[in-house]
Amino acid sequence: MTDTTTISVAGEPGYDITIGRGLLSSLGEALPAGAQKVLVVHPPTLAKQAEELRAQLMGDRQVLLAEIPDAEAGKRVEVAAFCWQVMGQADFTRTDVVVGFGGGAVTDLAGFVAATWLRGVALVQVPTTVLGMVDAAVGGKTGINTAEGKNLVGAFWPPVAVVCDLDLLDTLSKNEATAGFAEVVKAGFIWHPEILDLIEADPEGIVNPRGDGFRRCVELAIDMKARVVGEDLREAGLREVLNYGHTLGHAIEHAERYRWRHGAAISVGMVFAAELSRLAGRLSDDVAQRHRTVLESLGLPTTYRAGAFQTLKATMQRDKKSRGSMLRFIVLDDLARPTVLQAPDESLLFAAYQEVGA
Ligand code: GLY
Repeated sequence: MTDTTTISVAGEPGYDITIGRGLLSSLGEALPAGAQKVLVVHPPTLAKQAEELRAQLMGDRQVLLAEIPDAEAGKRVEVAAFCWQVMGQADFTRTDVVVGFGGGAVTDLAGFVAATWLRGVALVQVPTTVLGMVDAAVGGKTGINTAEGKNLVGAFWPPVAVVCDLDLLDTLSKNEATAGFAEVVKAGFIWHPEILDLIEADPEGIVNPRGDGFRRCVELAIDMKARVVGEDLREAGLREVLNYGHTLGHAIEHAERYRWRHGAAISVGMVFAAELSRLAGRLSDDVAQRHRTVLESLGLPTTYRAGAFQTLKATMQRDKKSRGSMLRFIVLDDLARPTVLQAPDESLLFAAYQEVGA
């Protein structure tokens, strides 16, 4: 193992996020010392790597594998019940540990299972996608979907460690890496503008997981997330800034029946939020336009159907993050200066939407 970066998340207790290559081969070091049983929750596509993990972690531990459906199909109560059954049959105790090994949906489900088994057992997250590394696996949000909506059932349950092995990203398609990069761009606008400079310097090469720029961007995005969730685990205040671009983005995902990638939807959502900021007199034309140039240089979408405003607005109003029926948006006063815009006029929302409508 070489060249590992460690980022600490504050809390009671806090935890470390390690970033590097070849980290899986020493995953045992990240597990709680007393854990005798390990449940590795993984999707079918990682079955081979999960078997390798089992072989490596075995010895004085019992390692159980729970293969679950990938993506949103895995975030169902029936899938959680399957994991609980595996744990029950193995006499999984309070001192044992769950490992979430997969993309954001898998780590959300694994986290929920860890949070609920015996009222909470240790969780180690091993994200295998860009989105998982920079967002889903960091910060302790866990949950499942119900027929009525996404993430309606869940718990804040921080992991004891997050291990980001960049080797796992080498096989991602460019599309997958780029979609995950939308959350990295978000971190650039709301917190670490250095990310934007790095993308502008090499938009073609930046999404190559083997590049130095890629690693730096991912580390900066994780650093942002670690600081935000270290200060505000339960989204009582600061954590809300992470919703930049997400209010409209979630509505687009819903309108597209989740066939759009999350990153694509929040890409449009960020341009909308920037236009809202600009039209509210908060943000300069240049920074608003920079959203388009950065996102488009990565091949991410910046427009959506012109006639969709009323449908999207109705969905935004149902978004669980709005307080009562009042719409709330994260907007920018400048680069790295996010703030809340509460209950903007319909005319302002419509005007901002005109800027992304195509
Ligand atoms: N993905 C947003 C958050 O973790 O709060």
